[in-house]
Amino acid sequence: MSLQPCRPPPALILVNEAPAHGAEIEALLDRAFGPGRFAKASERVREFAEFAPELSFCALEGGKVAGVVRMWRVAVGDQPIVFLGPLAVEESERRSGLGAMLVERACEASRAAGEAAVVLVGDLPYFQRVGFEVAPGVDLPGPVDPKRVLSRRFSDVALAGMVRPRTRSLRA
Ligand SMILES: CC(C)(COP(=O)(O)OP(=O)(O)OC[C@H]1O[C@@H](n2cnc3c(N)ncnc32)[C@H](O)[C@@H]1OP(=O)(O)O)[C@@H](O)C(=O)NCCC(=O)NCCS
Repeated sequence: MSLQPCRPPPALILVNEAPAHGAEIEALLDRAFGPGRFAKASERVREFAEFAPELSFCALEGGKVAGVVRMWRVAVGDQPIVFLGPLAVEESERRSGLGAMLVERACEASRAAGEAAVVLVGDLPYFQRVGFEVAPGVDLPGPVDPKRVLSRRFSDVALAGMVRPRTRSLRA
């Protein structure tokens, strides 16, 4: 019997999303969300939002995309905020904290960039573990369960109104 050299597990790193990751991310999102992916209320927001690659991250394991979180600049009423989503982790990599790590990293980058809050549509039981709460004053341009509209605020801003495009006069 020959002895095999012992290899360490592939390192996991979080990096900003770059165009080179695009195809792998699309495939991961298709697997994670299935055919209903583009019917979600969040997709209506992403149609007008400004993508923020410097606030968006993917997890690379052995050079392969294992998870992703995307961030978008929008406003709620007159308050500039960041919209989070989609968030997805490869099925084989779930339940080891990677999803929470991606959310935390994207929120920290947003806070460091001077953003006031992050808003998303998702399940409270998951996202409250990473600091989100129901955002009762925030509305979306499309049908959505208000109990799934969540926010994490970095300062004492009031979030009230419709999620809408961030115009030049509403920069953070
Ligand atoms: C949601 C998702 C990103 C979590 O990734 P992950 O790396 O497994 O997350 P974490 O390791 O940080 O947390 C795992 C825990 O969250 C729980 N969890 C996952 N999705 C949940 C949900 N929708 N509601 C409540 N709890 C949830 C898991 O059961 C697990 O619980 P445990 O720690 O008690 O075992 C991943 O399950 C996924 O890609 N799902 C499909 C896409 C999706 O639903 N994205 C979120 C939509 S906004």
